[in-house]
Amino acid sequence: MSQLNSKYFHYRDKELFCEDVPVVKIASAVSTPVYIYSRNYLRDRYTEFAAAFQSIDHAIFYSVKSNFNLSVIKTFLSLGSGVDVNSEGELYRALRAGAHPSKIILTGVGKTEDELRIGMVHNVLMIKAESLEEIELLNKIAGQLKLKPKVALRINPDVNPATHPYISTGLAENKFGVSSEEALEIFSHSKNFSNIIFTGLHMHIGSQILAAEPFVEAVEKLSEIYFKLNAAGIRPDHFDIGGGMGVYYRENENFSLPDFAGNLLPLLKKISSKIIFEPGRYLTANGGILLTKVLYNKTEAEKYFIIVDAAMNDLLRPSIYDAYHHIQHAILNKERKNVRADIVGPVCESGDFMGRDREIPACIQGDLLAVMSAGAYGMTMASNYNARRRPAEVMVEGDRYFIIRSREHYQHLLLDEEERLLT
Ligand code: LLP
Repeated sequence: MSQLNSKYFHYRDKELFCEDVPVVKIASAVSTPVYIYSRNYLRDRYTEFAAAFQSIDHAIFYSVKSNFNLSVIKTFLSLGSGVDVNSEGELYRALRAGAHPSKIILTGVGKTEDELRIGMVHNVLMIKAESLEEIELLNKIAGQLKLKPKVALRINPDVNPATHPYISTGLAENKFGVSSEEALEIFSHSKNFSNIIFTGLHMHIGSQILAAEPFVEAVEKLSEIYFKLNAAGIRPDHFDIGGGMGVYYRENENFSLPDFAGNLLPLLKKISSKIIFEPGRYLTANGGILLTKVLYNKTEAEKYFIIVDAAMNDLLRPSIYDAYHHIQHAILNKERKNVRADIVGPVCESGDFMGRDREIPACIQGDLLAVMSAGAYGMTMASNYNARRRPAEVMVEGDRYFIIRSREHYQHLLLDEEERLLT
């Protein structure tokens, strides 16, 4: 779905609104840069996803790495979602947002001993194991703690998800999970791991996948293992196919939920365990924008630059994946002629840009620009580089808005460095 003129983000009288709130109003109150989310977008995407799979026994575990603001997590929890977490920090956030441990899945290719222990002590629904050594460690810690954690094995189905190489995770060359052969081998020795209960099979092949085919191929491969296990008398409770469903960032980039569901349902209906989905981006990306202010214009060596107050530390995706985020004015003005410009941030790196070589109506100092589709992997990947305070986050619901996280204070930049200052 295009985010550019949806009921969640649209123009009224040439002014950009999030739901029923003009974004300019938020900028005046909170300043910029600021992340703005539409709560009804989040709700509608969740409801739509759940409806697409209502004919099967399934559960959605929102992948909090895409946006871990507590209010975002809580919005999904209130709709019945579980959460997929990738670290003790995300587990902490999920618990603070009110997630019951039975609604939490702990994932991660390199969980520390502490993280495994914390997951076990909290008795999360499943801890995913990604290697034999991790299973051995899980089994050992469980023995020491006299606990019986539920464990899912992550399989790497060796499927090409046709996405950016940095976010592909299901190829044999990627670090995630174990091969099908190794998985069967591990299950055949499951009696050696008497302190843990194998309750699930899992895969996650990558992110921003637009076509259904890679999912189909991967589910077929996971199903093969599932049926082999069934034949050996093992029936995992959960069949977890991960996340990775793509979203609209620009024209011709579209993910079709009906197509995805239509292709997968016949395969999933053959599985007699609960199907788990872990969407992140699908639920959040187009539910958010990053609003930024124009600081300066300049022309250098025939290149035109628009310098804005948001930087790579606020939204990293353009810099590391060369990701496209549409950029548009918050107030439209027909008198402005189009210019071709690089829209760049204040950080001291040439890789610090929001968009390059963009055609956009000319800007003047103080204009507000909306960097679209920024609800996923925006704030969660933000940093304090250049000692910049991370931006505020605002949630809009109808005609109201709520600051759900303040812009960081200078004190956040220092933590306890002053008390620890060397003489
Ligand atoms: N489950 C697991 C095990 C994952 O590793 C991920 C994402 C997800 C679910 C959710 O995937 P999604 O539905 O959001 O595609 N920073 C990158 C994306 C990295 C995704 C990592 N894993 C980006 O900005 O594009």
